[in-house]
Amino acid sequence: MIIKSVKLNNFRCHEEFLLSCWKETTMISGENGSGKTSILEAIVETTRGKSFRAVDREIIRRGAEFYRVELEYVDGEKVVVTYEAESGKKTFFAGEKKTARLPKKYKYPIVLFEPDDLNIVGASPSRKRDYFDRFFAQLSDRYSSSLSKYNKALKQRNELLKKEFLKKEELFSWNVLLSRLGVDLWKSRVELVENINKKLTDIYRSIADNEDEILIRLEKDAEVDENGYFRELEGRFERDSIVGHTSFGVHRDNYKFLFNKTEADGSASRGEVRSIVIALKFIEAEMVKEVLGKSPVVLLDDVFSELDETRQKALVRNFKKNQVIITSVGAVEDIE
Ligand SMILES: Nc1ncnc2c1ncn2[C@@H]1O[C@H](COP(=O)(O)OP(=O)(O)OP(=O)(O)O)[C@@H](O)[C@H]1O
Ligand SMILES: [Mg+2]
Repeated sequence: MIIKSVKLNNFRCHEEFLLSCWKETTMISGENGSGKTSILEAIVETTRGKSFRAVDREIIRRGAEFYRVELEYVDGEKVVVTYEAESGKKTFFAGEKKTARLPKKYKYPIVLFEPDDLNIVGASPSRKRDYFDRFFAQLSDRYSSSLSKYNKALKQRNELLKKEFLKKEELFSWNVLLSRLGVDLWKSRVELVENINKKLTDIYRSIADNEDEILIRLEKDAEVDENGYFRELEGRFERDSIVGHTSFGVHRDNYKFLFNKTEADGSASRGEVRSIVIALKFIEAEMVKEVLGKSPVVLLDDVFSELDETRQKALVRNFKKNQVIITSVGAVEDIE
């Protein structure tokens, strides 16, 4: 067990709430709208440093002046986060220090499984990119930093493209930067997808109990190095300034799920698709453990009700070594 308790004040609908984790598996059950996902959100706030679904002013309980979350680990370490409505100031307290952001040392890896993740196989390219970006950013600081720099540079380039009488030279430095960061992101994506693929079919088979083969394929705009990337951007000046955005690059990548070599969306059954997603979540937890050396805490938000018994059992079996916090509407029986 890793997390001992989480205390919420004025966080969403919770004026005051204490979640104590007594065992490896903690179950939170309640009616729709009773605040289950909000508790997981508070855990993510204090382990990752920010929410997975909203900005702070939306989180603070309506009418309240501040929110506060206090998370205590079993080893006695505490992380507290407070946010004040009036000043908009957020403060983390960890290791007797106050900081505006959660220091890396006090972050703890989390694998979050939301109901919407079950639709990832057939989701839009941008939703799939977001999914894998979060997955990869947790594994690598370099990925996370390249991605945020890339997104900022892309925004700047796109803003320039909307300008009248834009000269080609004005884009030069942005093209240089985007090529460097873009190729860096491609390298990481290719390598990480390869690592996932090494495990995917085996884990999938252990859940679905069959002989199917699953692969993820990263689809990119082109196979080019940094110079080639730069030339593509330069060569698209006229087209890009007409449409007002950047028509080449990693922000257009797609991840395809292949089921026995054909696209899974459309060929795999609903149950098979769910097994793929569950396999992907196990791999996420495994890779986090391998890369960061810490066993992630697994948050399962309302996913049990979406799964049949075989897949529910597979979830419990594979996350046996992790601390798991589960939410469900009503009670879930016989999950162990
Ligand atoms: N800032 C806020 N202040 C007060 N209440 C809020 C705030 N933001 C959201 N809520 C309410 O908090 C309640 C809890 O939301 P939450 O998503 O945690 O519920 P849930 O138990 O996960 O529900 P479901 O079972 O439908 O997923 C909802 O009724 C929501 O409208
Ligand atoms: Mg919920």
